[in-house]
Amino acid sequence: MTIDLAVIGGTGVYALGELADAEAFQPDTAYGVPSGPIRVGTYAGKRVAFLARHGEGHSLPPHKINYRANLVALKEMGAQRVLALNTVGGISERFGPRVLACPDQLIDYTWGRISTLCEEPGSEVLHVDFGEPYTTSLRQAIVQAAHQASVAIVDAGCYGATQGPRLETKAEIARMRRDGCDLVGMTGMPEAGLARELGLDYACLAIVANWAAGAGPDADAVITLQDVLDNVAVAMAGVPKVLQRLLVR
Ligand code: HPA
Repeated sequence: MTIDLAVIGGTGVYALGELADAEAFQPDTAYGVPSGPIRVGTYAGKRVAFLARHGEGHSLPPHKINYRANLVALKEMGAQRVLALNTVGGISERFGPRVLACPDQLIDYTWGRISTLCEEPGSEVLHVDFGEPYTTSLRQAIVQAAHQASVAIVDAGCYGATQGPRLETKAEIARMRRDGCDLVGMTGMPEAGLARELGLDYACLAIVANWAAGAGPDADAVITLQDVLDNVAVAMAGVPKVLQRLLVR
């Protein structure tokens, strides 16, 4: 089976409404089972796979996701290109709630997650190049597709991956800002690194759900799940248009 594009959905994105005639697969991999069924169907005339990263009922916290099984399953099913949808908080000015962004850099603050395929004794030790953590050609295609679809997108930015599941303190976000992070999320790593180890084309389409702690005009704003979900729902309106354009290219 060939899959033109695999889409991994994040918080608030548990299905792709436009996926027609979808068939559900529940593959098993050498690393265990993915977060949920992989739904393969037709989207803009192409074969598209969709997987909800946290499970379709959002039952998996970021540190419990089997990132290896998710990516290996998609690869074994024939995917070469992976578009990761990641719900994030915005840190710097251009990344307010409801913005779509395609980051070009990341910093990994996660810990204790299995972050490599080289974990098991006897597995080949890989030191993959990760200077550009996202596949440039896929990033460019996403940004161009957004432009063609007249969907606003911020091209570039640095994604900081935190451990979660709690949100960050203001001091943590202030530090991340000093480090150069524009966005903060909990699932960007180890996913991007594993995709590179697997030789997959991988890029992130980030959906800004809220100002990160202490960022934005109201430094004392409390972040609620309802705000997050409401903003994701609004920003997601542009995503099918971007996917359409990306797929017909
Ligand atoms: N921090 C971390 N992850 C997130 C946030 C946040 O503020 N919002 C959505 N995902």
